[in-house]
Amino acid sequence: MKGVILAGGNGTRLSPFTKIINKHLLPVGPYPMIYWSIMKLESSGIKDILIITHQDHLKDFKTVLKNGEDLGVNITYKIQPYAGGIAHGLLYAKDFIKKEKFIFMLGDNIFEDSLLPYVKNFINQDEGAKILLKNVEDPERYGIATVNKITNQITSIVEKPQNSSSNLCVTGIYMYDDGVFGYIDHLKTSARGELEITDINNIYISKGKLSYEVLQGWWIDAGTHNSLFIANQLVYKELNKLRTDDNE
Ligand code: G1P
Repeated sequence: MKGVILAGGNGTRLSPFTKIINKHLLPVGPYPMIYWSIMKLESSGIKDILIITHQDHLKDFKTVLKNGEDLGVNITYKIQPYAGGIAHGLLYAKDFIKKEKFIFMLGDNIFEDSLLPYVKNFINQDEGAKILLKNVEDPERYGIATVNKITNQITSIVEKPQNSSSNLCVTGIYMYDDGVFGYIDHLKTSARGELEITDINNIYISKGKLSYEVLQGWWIDAGTHNSLFIANQLVYKELNKLRTDDNE
C-alpha cells in the first residue's frame, strides 16, 4: 500500500512562524513535525510516500527529506497550488495512487498507536474507506462522528459542531479505495471555501462503506501553539521513557 501525506495549508493558527516556514517543518521533539507521519508509515511497511505541499515550501521539504532515503522510504512530491481544503489537496494524489487502496494522513497529526493493525484490517476490507477516531474534550475543533450504538456504524460526521452530543473526533488518518477521487470531482465548496474531507467521509457513510476504529494511545493535531507545545511534551516524554528502558 502507498501513503499520502498532506503538508499544505496556510498554517495561520501557528503564525508568525508559518510566515517563514511550513507548519509541518516546525519542531516536534528533535525532528520536523512531518518526520512523525513518515516514521509511522515506514514502521507499518508503507515505503512509497507522496507529500503534497505548496510550491513556496517544496524546496524546504526537499532540503530536509530529499528522496526519503534517510528515513527508509521513497518520497515523491506534488504541488497543491492553493489552500483549497483537505479533499482538494488529496485530488493531487490521483496519478500517484492510480487504482489502489491507500492511506492518507494530515502531516500535523502526531500520535502514539502503531498504524500496522489498522492498515492490515483495511487491506482485508473489501472496498470503501476506514477512518480512525479518538475521544477529545474540544469537539468544536474537529470533524465529529456520531456512532449508532446498536449497529456500531457511524451515522454522520459534522465538521466543527458548536453543540455535539459526541466527543469522537475524526483524526487526520484516513484509508480510502481509489473511488475517492471520483467523489472529490463532484464535491461542492463548503461555507469556509474549501473542499471538505468530512463531505467525502459522509459520502462513504451514505453508501454504507465507511468502517472505523478508535485509537488506543494519545493523539494530537499539532496545528495550534498550545497543541504544538503539548505534542512536544508527549513526544519527549515517550523518548525519555525509551531511553530509561534502554538503560535498565
Ligand atoms: C481537519 C479536518 C477535521 C479533522 C481534523 C483532524 O481539521 O477538517 O475533520 O477532525 O483535521 O486533525 P482542520 O485541521 O482543517 O481544522
